[in-house]
Amino acid sequence: MTADRLNRIEPFRVMQLMERAKALEAEGHRVVHFEVGEPDFDTAEPIVAAGKRALDEGHTKYTQALGIPPLKARIARYYEDTAGVSIEPERIVITSGASGGLLLLTALLLNPDDELLMPDPGYPCNEVFVDVVGGIARRIDVEAANGFQVEGRSLIDAWGPRTRGVLIGSPANPTGAVLDRTRLSELVNLVHERQGAFLLDEIYQGLIYEGAGGNMEVGYHTGLAIDDGIFVLNSFSKYFGMTGWRLGWMVVPLEQVDAVGRLAQNLFISPSSIAQYAALAAFDEDAMVIHEQRRQRFARRRDMLAAGLRALGLRIPVDPLGAFYLYVDVSSTGMDSETFCWRLIDKYQVAVTPGIDFGEHLAERHVRFAYTTSEASIELGLERIGQALADWGVD
Ligand SMILES: Cc1ncc(COP(=O)(O)O)c(C=O)c1O
Repeated sequence: MTADRLNRIEPFRVMQLMERAKALEAEGHRVVHFEVGEPDFDTAEPIVAAGKRALDEGHTKYTQALGIPPLKARIARYYEDTAGVSIEPERIVITSGASGGLLLLTALLLNPDDELLMPDPGYPCNEVFVDVVGGIARRIDVEAANGFQVEGRSLIDAWGPRTRGVLIGSPANPTGAVLDRTRLSELVNLVHERQGAFLLDEIYQGLIYEGAGGNMEVGYHTGLAIDDGIFVLNSFSKYFGMTGWRLGWMVVPLEQVDAVGRLAQNLFISPSSIAQYAALAAFDEDAMVIHEQRRQRFARRRDMLAAGLRALGLRIPVDPLGAFYLYVDVSSTGMDSETFCWRLIDKYQVAVTPGIDFGEHLAERHVRFAYTTSEASIELGLERIGQALADWGVD
């Protein structure tokens, strides 16, 4: 017997595609992976060294539920240095990945049947974090014509008597879209006028690229520079390349710290001690140089993959400014996105994620490419997709 919510939680389609990819690899095929949402680089060496030292020094016990003070202070300094934003370290909550933060925030803010608004397409697990605390995730369709950004009008229309707030990612998964300063302030104001909570997922912070606008157009490094009263989620997973360490952080309004602390003690006791001591090194200059080099490589890969797919006639409706994803319209192939993905993996050994994993809105037209793979693999992938399109008679 299982709870009813299990009928609402669907497995990701991409998991089945990955199973197929593994089976093909076991048969000796080389698969090109565009489906993986994590950096292909190993954790930077200075962080790994700090993790080893943490073990040797015996940092293997529970820590404070909200995280070790030196890491909170280090993150506060990071905001000061990168954005000129001054945050009291007490407002910083260290979590078990952004995932841990998402669960803390839905548990903090939602009573049963309360609603949280979020964009469609969007990060699929968000709905589940809402569901497990008895809330309802209400999706707001976002359009390519608006850069896949949530519009003020749609937010007003979607707001109902049980709406408690909105959760938006920027840069976004799966579109790579970044909320610009004007749009972000407009949305935050609309939410605060309605006494709602604004949750900004900045897990891809730092992964913003020049060329298609870049930092200049975005105009801020963290949403906290625009409004100090929002909830910000962040993580060491993406920019800092620490997915397997399971560490993230949040910045919450001061008056919520105590309540978040009570939840964190009960749900997690504490975040990983070893990961926290390792993460102290993530902001040191030697590690930051490595992160920056990797960002530049992602930028080159984005340009290379986007140009290659466009040359093959596939449409990328919005030039993504950030994260490491391209949301590509494959409707010109005459196939729905799931069929496209299956045929591509089965016959051409290229794995991409179908839009259906990110929501319903225009999902059958889109697939997500992650450029978390080497330039050589991208080249090979493009060659194979070119062959597939030729075989299918698509020009
Ligand atoms: C938008 C977004 N938020 C949150 C997460 C969770 O990441 P983690 O728990 O590794 O920090 C992910 C992971 O892919 C994501 O894409």
